[in-house]
Amino acid sequence: MPLVSMRQLLDEAAKGGYGVGAFNVNDMEQIQAIMAAAKETKSPVIVQASRGARQFAEDLYLFKLIQAAAELNPEIPIAMHQDHGNSFETCKSAILLGYTSVMMDGSLKSDGKTPSTFEENVEVTKKVVDFAHERGVTVEGEIGVLGGVEDGHGAGGSGLEHITDPDQAVEFAERTGVDALAIAIGTSHGAYKFSKKPDGSVLKMDVLIAIHKRLPNTHLVMHGSSSVPKDLQDIINKYGGKLKETWGVPVEEIQLGIRNGVRKVNVDTDNRLAITGAIRKVFAETPEKFDPRDYLKPAREAMAKVVALRMTQFGQAGHAGDYAPIDIKEIAKGYADGTLSTHPLVAAK
Ligand code: G3H
Ligand code: 13P
Ligand code: ZN
Repeated sequence: MPLVSMRQLLDEAAKGGYGVGAFNVNDMEQIQAIMAAAKETKSPVIVQASRGARQFAEDLYLFKLIQAAAELNPEIPIAMHQDHGNSFETCKSAILLGYTSVMMDGSLKSDGKTPSTFEENVEVTKKVVDFAHERGVTVEGEIGVLGGVEDGHGAGGSGLEHITDPDQAVEFAERTGVDALAIAIGTSHGAYKFSKKPDGSVLKMDVLIAIHKRLPNTHLVMHGSSSVPKDLQDIINKYGGKLKETWGVPVEEIQLGIRNGVRKVNVDTDNRLAITGAIRKVFAETPEKFDPRDYLKPAREAMAKVVALRMTQFGQAGHAGDYAPIDIKEIAKGYADGTLSTHPLVAAK
């Protein structure tokens, strides 16, 4: 099966009332882990690569691996997504390579650090939408800024500094025509999101619900959605790691989000934790081993276990065979003739 439009995946998720995990990849083992989990749970999948990932793996290696995943798993719809594109050029290069979806993160300037103005964000996102939709490619935009810094990307600080304003979210969706909207509700990237189990003072699910009420048909995206489970932290620390005590986003809060318009759930850190814990365990218990397969195999299995669990918890499990993928050229026609709407439904306050 060719790579599928993320818009189609999210439209189907909205019809079915479930969320779809978007899992970051940097190498073959991570892609294989996601596909093993998708096969086991019969899930449609979103695979995403950050700018750092594209650089680390080299564009062509990574993209050919995704194509291999699609060829080997014809029964699984796969959307390939650029995570946190920092400029029009980054998104354009992903689109020309064959990605079926891009995120234009115009909430930050192209340095990936400094918050941009609302007008700058609208302008660059709209430019990406026009280029992408002509080619049938999906666009995710972001309004509000997440906390934390990952691989040089992010504004830093806590997640509470630039929470999304629902009125701005409405104006942004109307003026850009994005297919999916990432919002800032207090989460941040990485392992250190919260210093205790988050409550409504730091994780603003009320803001998410307010945005969903105003934009009932818009696919919302939750970034920084790793749950940072204690058991994964413990494995790392048991085998010589030094993670400080920390909390992520509880799965039940994500499920509340899914009941309120969240269709794409971004998870990277939980998989990083699973991989690192598994590798540390092999190194600590069998220090005589030196064949990479001896630790990459358990690492891949540990990640597949986390991904399969999230697929079940987000509700995408069992939905891989629900629909026939629409060719990306047909998707482009749909944007052009208006059958694929880019005008959000806006409810009164
Ligand atoms: O956006 C955050 C993801 O976890 C990707 O992180 O930029 O270090 O690859 P990265
Ligand atoms: P986590 O760091 O919580 O896994 O978030 C990943 C993410 O938002 C990727 O865009
Ligand atoms: Zn993110």
